[in-house]
Amino acid sequence: MTAPNTVPAGTPGYADAAAHAAGLPGLTGRAGLADPGGAAVTLERVTKSYDRGRVTALDNVSWTFRRGTFTAIMGASGSGKSTFLHCASGLDRPTSGTVRLGETDLGKLKETALTRLRRDRVGFVFQGYNLVPSMDVRRNITLPLFLGGRRADAGWLDEVVYRVGMADRLDHKPSELSGGQQQRVAVARALVTRPEIVFADEPTAALDPRTAGHVLRLLREAVDATGQTVVLVTHDPTAAAWADSAVFLSQGRIVDELTRPTAATVLNRWETL
Ligand SMILES: Nc1ncnc2c1ncn2[C@@H]1O[C@H](COP(=O)(O)OP(=O)(O)OP(=O)(O)O)[C@@H](O)[C@H]1O
Ligand SMILES: [Mg+2]
Repeated sequence: MTAPNTVPAGTPGYADAAAHAAGLPGLTGRAGLADPGGAAVTLERVTKSYDRGRVTALDNVSWTFRRGTFTAIMGASGSGKSTFLHCASGLDRPTSGTVRLGETDLGKLKETALTRLRRDRVGFVFQGYNLVPSMDVRRNITLPLFLGGRRADAGWLDEVVYRVGMADRLDHKPSELSGGQQQRVAVARALVTRPEIVFADEPTAALDPRTAGHVLRLLREAVDATGQTVVLVTHDPTAAAWADSAVFLSQGRIVDELTRPTAATVLNRWETL
């Protein structure tokens, strides 16, 4: 574990890590969960292969994400990060192995039940945003609520929209937005239902550092204030420094974990991957 006094001042994650250590934020929010600190998602011996076994994107991966934690998944391009996220979230089914969301074994669910579970309990920020071109920003963000027959909590919707900086673009279509703006809409859409777990595939890749900081803080606060679980794929060591731990993938396998990562320790580990 990294000692806080070795972390350069101003590194994102430092204040959060120190606050965590002091037990400041989040504890009251987490107390409301049925099983605080229990498993949010568990993967057991998960393998995903493509092309009739010629490509092994995930190779016998076992991992548990505990509730109320923020994990960064890192690794070279092609190491299996998106595949990992898709299997862990029920977007894709593994070739073999088991994925459980809380107590629910996703492999035992039929397609409709799996779709409903994803809609109700999971938020997903796609690497390619996956916004609906014909819908404006407001409708894109509230789509998961609409599909679930739920009404928007107006206060929370306003808050999310404001925090991702899209309040003045609500009537625009995705084609009228920059890549970074589309990315922020995708983040808002994943958070609007307050899902148990948020999977985000490089959600800051198209953002300037300041806007990226806003999005990462929003994800951090989802964990600290309400005990949600966040799994973030990123190539950016400063983004990983917002997480409680960084997990490294290489050739479809988890090869290391850094707790309380800082940009410096992540870079250091990356160089020896
Ligand atoms: N549908 C598919 N068919 C065949 N091979 C695939 C498919 N999807 C992914 N792969 C392969 O699986 C491996 C892992 O891909 P994945 O998209 O998970 O990598 P990644 O770590 O997310 O990469 P990046 O950082 O570039 O997004 C790669 O070798 C990729 O070519
Ligand atoms: Mg990817």
